[in-house]
Amino acid sequence: MTSIKLTHGEQRKSYVRKMFNSIARRYDLLNHLLSFGIDYLWRRKAIQQLNAGPDHLILDLATGTGDLAIETINKTEARVIGADISINMLKTGQTKSRRRQLQDRLNFVNGDGEQLPFGDAVFGGTVIAFGIRNMGHIDQALTEIHRVLKDSGQLIILEFSLPQVKFFQALYLFYFNHILPRVGRMISKDKEAYTYLPVSVSDFPSIGSFAHMIESAGFGEITYQKLLSGVAVIYKAHKNSE
Ligand SMILES: C[S@@+](CC[C@H](N)C(=O)[O-])C[C@H]1O[C@@H](n2cnc3c(N)ncnc32)[C@H](O)[C@@H]1O
Repeated sequence: MTSIKLTHGEQRKSYVRKMFNSIARRYDLLNHLLSFGIDYLWRRKAIQQLNAGPDHLILDLATGTGDLAIETINKTEARVIGADISINMLKTGQTKSRRRQLQDRLNFVNGDGEQLPFGDAVFGGTVIAFGIRNMGHIDQALTEIHRVLKDSGQLIILEFSLPQVKFFQALYLFYFNHILPRVGRMISKDKEAYTYLPVSVSDFPSIGSFAHMIESAGFGEITYQKLLSGVAVIYKAHKNSE
């Protein structure tokens, strides 16, 4: 099995961009296959927490192939911008959006979450699924999200976590470390992408530490909900009014 050494900062960013560009064509298939379709339910659950009316513009950061953005369009009346650093992931998202004729309400932008190409206080909410973990500088991305949100704007983050219940943790680690990289490598033909996944999840801060990072970036009313005994977590917060 290929072993990888996780980098941070700018090195992490270019590594991640290259990796997602390489697996973009197979990403959706592998996502649904390797999660047994649960990823759909989790995105749905995350968007159920979003308060967004027809006047709202929502940012789906690290949108990838746009599944969370499309869920937002389906479940709310808001308009959505999906932003991502991987051009190939965005191309797949654009094809899906065109096929569903969502172009009036959904636009894609090639942009970096750590340096967002938007003005201050333009979005009513930001959602992000399985993306924050991949940022080179997570604190910088949270600061940028805070900057582009309007006062009291909502932040919803769906991210993997390490379950704390020993039995679940053992099962999870076996699946993540042994099954997922093999199947991922076979189908995506990328040597490292699905080895990177468990390594990056282990490296991600604990629920408490991440909630603290969200607070330090200027958010309040922070709550979280564990999914499947903590395999994934939905974090919810609001931008503090100035
Ligand atoms: C695991 S995928 C998640 C995609 C999508 N949100 C989903 O739910 O399937 C992670 C995405 O984060 C993007 N990404 C990583 N670092 C980023 C950054 N600094 N700025 C914007 N997008 C980034 C990757 O290109 C990739 O498309």
